[in-house]
Amino acid sequence: MADDRGRPQRHGPASGSRTTAVQRVLDAYTEQRRADLGRPLRVLDLGGGTGGTAVPLAVAGHDLTVVDPSPDALFSLRRRAAEHQVEHRVRALQGDADTVRDLVNDGPDAAFDLVCLHGTLEVVDDPAAAVGAVAALLAPGGTFSLVVAQRLHAVLTRALAGQLDRAKAVLERPDGRWGEDDPAPRRFDEGAVLDLVRAHGLTPVHVQGVRVFTDLVPSALLDSEADRAALLALEEAAAAAADHPLLGSLGSALHVLATRD
Ligand SMILES: C[S@@+](CC[C@H](N)C(=O)[O-])C[C@H]1O[C@@H](n2cnc3c(N)ncnc32)[C@H](O)[C@@H]1O
Repeated sequence: MADDRGRPQRHGPASGSRTTAVQRVLDAYTEQRRADLGRPLRVLDLGGGTGGTAVPLAVAGHDLTVVDPSPDALFSLRRRAAEHQVEHRVRALQGDADTVRDLVNDGPDAAFDLVCLHGTLEVVDDPAAAVGAVAALLAPGGTFSLVVAQRLHAVLTRALAGQLDRAKAVLERPDGRWGEDDPAPRRFDEGAVLDLVRAHGLTPVHVQGVRVFTDLVPSALLDSEADRAALLALEEAAAAAADHPLLGSLGSALHVLATRD
């Protein structure tokens, strides 16, 4: 289900707050950048999936290129774009992090004002190469929007659930997983993510932990609508305190905006 801007609808605090926090930051950034440039933005969403990020940006009037290896995801993306009458602003291409440069490198359109890599750095074969590939597709002054799963949050949630061996494994293993049955393919540390971004000539301008509390609080403690509303309010307060020195690392995911000079 999507709302009238093509965003996934909320299905409770845990599913809603991530989309809302990231999208809110993107909305503010894209509106400011459109005003600066005097035109809609050219946006690339690598691993864009079914268009949860891309379609709202197309509804806002921007021109989207979505690259994803999954034909099913691209089918759903096209359908979602059609439902919102923005199919003319959404180019859907089958490809991946290894092929994206060749796929979109077809003239001036290759220089994107915004490149999104949300929930995808976890699954690519070579994260550094993937960041390098998309950084090379940014226009001067363009911005990279990265959302990645974080290790520290998973350590805390496993420990608070009494899964101490898993918490230790997530902390110690280079890939940040608790084992082969961990559904997450990889998790990252904030410092390593910022180093990776800087290594490709990008300057982080916004760093925010996303979903700091919604996954930490056991659902057994949320007895009422009032509890759930209070949790959302706490999460909103955390989002508003994006400059806090610790909250960034504690988020279930980290959202980084980084610009190219
Ligand atoms: C967790 S989903 C994230 C989808 C979307 N970006 C979002 O935030 O909702 C990961 C996406 O990455 C895509 N993907 C998998 N391997 C990839 C690769 N090597 N390069 C680019 N995308 C890939 C998947 O098909 C999937 O759509």
